[in-house]
Amino acid sequence: MIVLGIETSCDETAAAVVTDRREILGDVVLSQLSDHRPYGGVVPEIAARAHLDHLDGLVRRAMDEAGIGFDRLDGVAATGGPGLIGGVIVGVMTAKAIAAVQGLPFVAVNHLEGHALTARLTDPAPEGLAFPYLLLLVSGGHCQILAVEGVGRYRRLGTTIDDAVGEAFDKAAKLMGLGYPGGPLLERAAEGGDPARFELPRPMKGRPGCDFSFSGLKTAVRNRLDELPPGPLDPADVRDLAAGFQAAVGDVMVDRCARAMARFRAEHPTGDTLVVAGGVAANKYLRARLTALAEKQGFRFQAPPMRLCTDNAVMIAWAGLERLRLGQSDGLDFAPRPRWPL
Ligand code: KG4
Ligand code: ZN
Repeated sequence: MIVLGIETSCDETAAAVVTDRREILGDVVLSQLSDHRPYGGVVPEIAARAHLDHLDGLVRRAMDEAGIGFDRLDGVAATGGPGLIGGVIVGVMTAKAIAAVQGLPFVAVNHLEGHALTARLTDPAPEGLAFPYLLLLVSGGHCQILAVEGVGRYRRLGTTIDDAVGEAFDKAAKLMGLGYPGGPLLERAAEGGDPARFELPRPMKGRPGCDFSFSGLKTAVRNRLDELPPGPLDPADVRDLAAGFQAAVGDVMVDRCARAMARFRAEHPTGDTLVVAGGVAANKYLRARLTALAEKQGFRFQAPPMRLCTDNAVMIAWAGLERLRLGQSDGLDFAPRPRWPL
């Protein structure tokens, strides 16, 4: 089985081809970062236009990489939401057009489901990763802990009650004058910093449940900056504050995940894997904290390769394939969904 996938829900335009033997035949991603950087964030209208300009060429390139024609496909999948609606429409219309012309099934994939199922494609075990497993999904738009029990069977154990963790990184970095997107810049700025110098809260730590909150941490960063002497920021201050911020996020994540692991284990005695996905999974400090936690709790730790953790079309093609082989597909009347909880 060979499936073409399309992703256009945020600021990456992507197309990919995967097979049911867990092969990635084609994989192209075009980041619009430089288009949005002057504005300090993603501008929906610019994103939609850029998707429209580039998607056809990227689909062509992914198919060329795969070395096959459209007639060899068994289905076409596109992100159907949640996301910026203009972009989602571009991807869905393109996928529907290919499906209609080639007489192929069309699958509208929930973007979060794409992130959730990627680990089944990338797990090094010969048969891939079996259900159930625990997923920590941490990106600019999402911050959730899910029990992944099967295709279409996701149980949310925790979510953020305000900002997503990547969003918190981006906002804290902006306050520190580090630029956009802030996550990687803040991680670099924190190198060698003293995480204990500035006092920062650990929101939700020790509280019942597995939910997150980050807005108080962002406010605390602003307050600590306001307490510094006026004038340009001293790089040593930024270094210590960035290190303190990362340590606070790490403490919260470890606390929330430890609770989720206990709950997951009680409900799923056979599940033994913690998967982390989303752009924030690129953070080496947080990865190390989670790896140590997993080891302590007797869980395997699995993070897909970085380029499959951030937004991509491989995950959409794969999720589409998982649905297709269960006999599921969507009608060409599917309406894109800006909001679509898993
Ligand atoms: O998954 P992603 O590419 O896009 C979505 O949001 O869906 O994630 C992007 C987010 C941004 O907020 C970015 O700042 C954050 O992931 N991020 C990081 C790091 N690299 C990317 N956050 C912390 N440390 C990093 N190294
Ligand atoms: Zn995403």
